[in-house]
Amino acid sequence: KGDPRLQAISQAIRVVPHFPIHGIMFQDITTLLLDHKAFKDTVDIFVDRYRDTHISVVAGIEARGFMFGPSIALGIGAKFVPLRKPRKLPGEVISEKYALEYGTDCLELHVGAVQPGERAIIIDDLVATGGTMSAGVKLLERVGAEVVECACVIGVPDVKGQCRRIGKPLYVLVEPR
Ligand code: PRP
Repeated sequence: KGDPRLQAISQAIRVVPHFPIHGIMFQDITTLLLDHKAFKDTVDIFVDRYRDTHISVVAGIEARGFMFGPSIALGIGAKFVPLRKPRKLPGEVISEKYALEYGTDCLELHVGAVQPGERAIIIDDLVATGGTMSAGVKLLERVGAEVVECACVIGVPDVKGQCRRIGKPLYVLVEPR
């Protein structure tokens, strides 16, 4: 946490008040992607953490996990596996529903993309309740993978009594601004 790069990464994330709905302080990572140094530092921090840990799968969560995951996968010599919203993947899939504040959503994984016993990390831009990340963990475990860690750029502090219950180590770079 004493990494001097983290402050610049945090500063590069734009906060958009009341998007997409009133009361939400949206954490916009598109401005981080525009800042070559901050973007590269972000990827490098993850690559340095997972290099030499025998991770063969980087699973990215749609949509913004796709913006970081492939670079990390290439950097550590792993494959990239997209965890997608329903009806996007053309092959045979397994699905995992998860709760949103209002209603439910679902993530899907291509059957055959990950083999039993593979070591995986899951990457997303932001974790709040952890519901999305938990669905990703379940999908990978259902095909016999070992989820070594979950990782995200921005982590909303875990509110007491609203425990995230991802059940895996969670590695977070910065808090929301
Ligand atoms: C956001 C974010 C995470 C998720 C985190 O995605 O990118 O995937 O919410 O929330 P949680 O920890 O409470 O589950 P969103 O659902 O907005 O989907 P999108 O990336 O497809 O826009």
